[in-house]
Amino acid sequence: LEALGLESILEKLTIEGGRALRGKVTVSGAKNAAVAIIPAALLVDGVCTVENVPNIKDVNILTEIMTKLGAKIAWVTRNELRIDSRNIKSSSATFDIVKSLRASYYLLGALIGRFNSAQVAFPGGCDFGHRPIDQHIKGFKALGANVEDHMGVVTLKAECLQGSKIFLDVVSVGATINLMLASVMADGVTIIENPAKEPHIVDVANFLNAMGANVKGAGTDEIKITGVARLVGGTSYSIIPDQIEAGTFMIAAAASKGDVVVHNLIPKHMESLTAKLLEMNVLIESGDDWIRVTSGEELTPSNVKTMPYPGFPTDLQPLISVLLCLANGSSTLTEAVWDSRFQYVDELKKMGANIRVDGRTSYIQGVETLMGASLKSLDLRAGAALIIAAIAAKGSSSIYNVNYVDRGYEDIEGKLVNLGALISRQNISIDEYSANAI
Ligand code: EPU
Repeated sequence: LEALGLESILEKLTIEGGRALRGKVTVSGAKNAAVAIIPAALLVDGVCTVENVPNIKDVNILTEIMTKLGAKIAWVTRNELRIDSRNIKSSSATFDIVKSLRASYYLLGALIGRFNSAQVAFPGGCDFGHRPIDQHIKGFKALGANVEDHMGVVTLKAECLQGSKIFLDVVSVGATINLMLASVMADGVTIIENPAKEPHIVDVANFLNAMGANVKGAGTDEIKITGVARLVGGTSYSIIPDQIEAGTFMIAAAASKGDVVVHNLIPKHMESLTAKLLEMNVLIESGDDWIRVTSGEELTPSNVKTMPYPGFPTDLQPLISVLLCLANGSSTLTEAVWDSRFQYVDELKKMGANIRVDGRTSYIQGVETLMGASLKSLDLRAGAALIIAAIAAKGSSSIYNVNYVDRGYEDIEGKLVNLGALISRQNISIDEYSANAI
């Protein structure tokens, strides 16, 4: 279990609800940038130092996988990683732990980009219905790789990758990043059309450029990668703040009727959320790298639809759902990125939420208050949503499957305790786990 980063499976969080969050909280580095930038360091025959790395399970799983490939990786400080990719022994990552991490797919782009060969076990991770990687594969083929997919293992091979024009049929964060990684040292120019524009796409491009790549247009409608013969060397780089963690604390502040200043964020990245919060009668103030969230008189209902960046992020969808549950009136919430991401709704219903799901939309009738309950998180953001719901609720809640939350949030309960939440972690027996978490 420990090897899979799942040791916290036999733990639960206990939360006494009803306390307004107050004070300051500092956001960590972006998970979804880190899980791409760390494998991107495999592209260089050199040493990289990456700062502002969130110290979370997903990062630790990734460093373990890369260590097995021959990278030498060490935490220099709590949030700084040193990655030495000079002696990579293998471009084959087919061992079990690879399958436990969705972001393992970035090993495909990084390894084919460096060695013209990659073999990676098909990724797992949070389950939101069908999670294809056809756009990644289509792009690798366009770059000249031969692709085989056999028994859950994807094998890529190329004599030499050739730059190409790739139009993504769906806006995909993973495919956009993977194709940037694969093409930095391809022969000629690669154009990615209809790319994702999330802040971490730009962060990965900046990291690649710091190593000597030539990537232009990340964050716009077209990314142009001019292949370089080799990357000049390792670099030092600091990861951007986590947009979703920042949003988590902003929503938690509003749901608990609190007053919180969220530090170390980029306000521009938060615009779709701040616009929604303002619409819901939440008070917002902001500065260069902080946003203060204070609850107004009463939450007004709203209609939310998730979209690729700069739209409302799907990763905040379960969390904003909690806020809509506490608004005075009817709201709708439409998931337009993933096929299915409403698995948490049954848990909120246990707390007295009034939600009906029909296809990709949930219809929410606000209630006066949520009530504490025994809850299980079914994925990372669902778990974060339940934590917020439990903080806002009357009474006590237990949250099982904390391991999902630990995969993506650094010290979430420490940060919440500092804001005045009554939250603690306990070990549980296998019997308690079986009775409540499965
Ligand atoms: N899609 C395809 N074909 C592909 C790739 C994606 O049809 O080849 C579809 C997906 O099924 C989905 C949509 O395109 O409907 C978007 O998927 P995307 O590829 O953008 O997602 P991802 O790269 O697998 C990342 C984040 C997710 C986040 C999504 C969307 C990482 C490791 N994961 O996933 O984050 O929800 O982008 O923003 O970066 C999370 O942090 O909780 C999380 C799940």
